[in-house]
Amino acid sequence: MNTTELYVVTGATGRTGSAAAKTLLHAGKRVRVVVRDKPKGEMWAALGAEVAVADFSDRSALCKAFAGANGAYIVSPPQYSSENLYSQAESMAHSIAEAARVAKLPKLVALSSIGAEQIAGTGWIAMNRMLEESLRDTGLDVTFLRAAYFMENWEALVKMAVQQRKLFSFLSPLNQKFPMIATADIGRIAAEALCENWEGVRIVDLEGPARYSPNDIAKYLSLKFGGAIPSASIAESDWGQSIAGQGFSSAAISGFIEMTQGINSGYIAFHDGLNLERRLGSVQIDAVIDALAVG
Ligand SMILES: NC(=O)c1ccc[n+]([C@@H]2O[C@H](COP(=O)([O-])OP(=O)(O)OC[C@H]3O[C@@H](n4cnc5c(N)ncnc54)[C@H](OP(=O)(O)O)[C@@H]3O)[C@@H](O)[C@H]2O)c1
Repeated sequence: MNTTELYVVTGATGRTGSAAAKTLLHAGKRVRVVVRDKPKGEMWAALGAEVAVADFSDRSALCKAFAGANGAYIVSPPQYSSENLYSQAESMAHSIAEAARVAKLPKLVALSSIGAEQIAGTGWIAMNRMLEESLRDTGLDVTFLRAAYFMENWEALVKMAVQQRKLFSFLSPLNQKFPMIATADIGRIAAEALCENWEGVRIVDLEGPARYSPNDIAKYLSLKFGGAIPSASIAESDWGQSIAGQGFSSAAISGFIEMTQGINSGYIAFHDGLNLERRLGSVQIDAVIDALAVG
């Protein structure tokens, strides 16, 4: 009988999920990845992982995927193209929670977001809050990783900056340092958290090794590519137009606007003094920008 702990990783074809699964495999744990399409599991099978096929909307397939595991990492991504993205997120959250409860998962680590403690006014982050609420209701031991703004969110703007020699920014003011984190760090920390033991609900704020302003990123791009690459704020009135055409529903665009307003105003932020645990990643933004700029 194999007595090594078995951990389920959802979102394994995605950014944080793949980093979590790789970290667990390197640590010698048994890993069962959850994919929606079987062929996407082949690479994981070659690395020694078990593969389960399940969509978050399929409670019974999820339940099978969770069966017998010591814990699971949950990534529940928004369905940005849908006008009903909030009700879909709620229904996926219920499905995940019910499957975890039926499978009696000993522990869960779920990716949430900075700002998830706010009841309203956070746009997309309302979906992270829904997941937190559903998983809390299971009574299982659960850790919520409230991650800062992903460094990878800069991808399109960095690529555009290389071409146009100007870094446009949704984040503002341009000299404000915002908490950000690399997805590789989130996945690694998720895997580490999953191997720990705790009781009840644990909230961990996650950010990178330093905070960065849009000006810091523009300065790094100038150094890397030579010559001046200044930063410039995208006017709030242009935000919707700037992300239109990328497959977002109008409800998703409104959510993006509300979330970005909340970040810029400081409403969506980490609050010192709340006695919450905070873990810092090690990946600097320079390394992420290097990869984004050439990727
Ligand atoms: N961007 C930010 O600044 C930020 C900050 C804090 C938190 N977050 C949270 O980060 C999460 C995204 O994490 P990520 O970047 O690791 O994800 P990602 O790279 O976007 O990957 C999403 C993963 O979810 C899977 N998936 C999508 N729909 C599914 C469904 N219906 N059933 C089962 N699996 C499904 C995808 O599988 P397929 O390959 O089959 O599509 C993929 O593996 C979101 O919950 C977001 O709220 C983001």
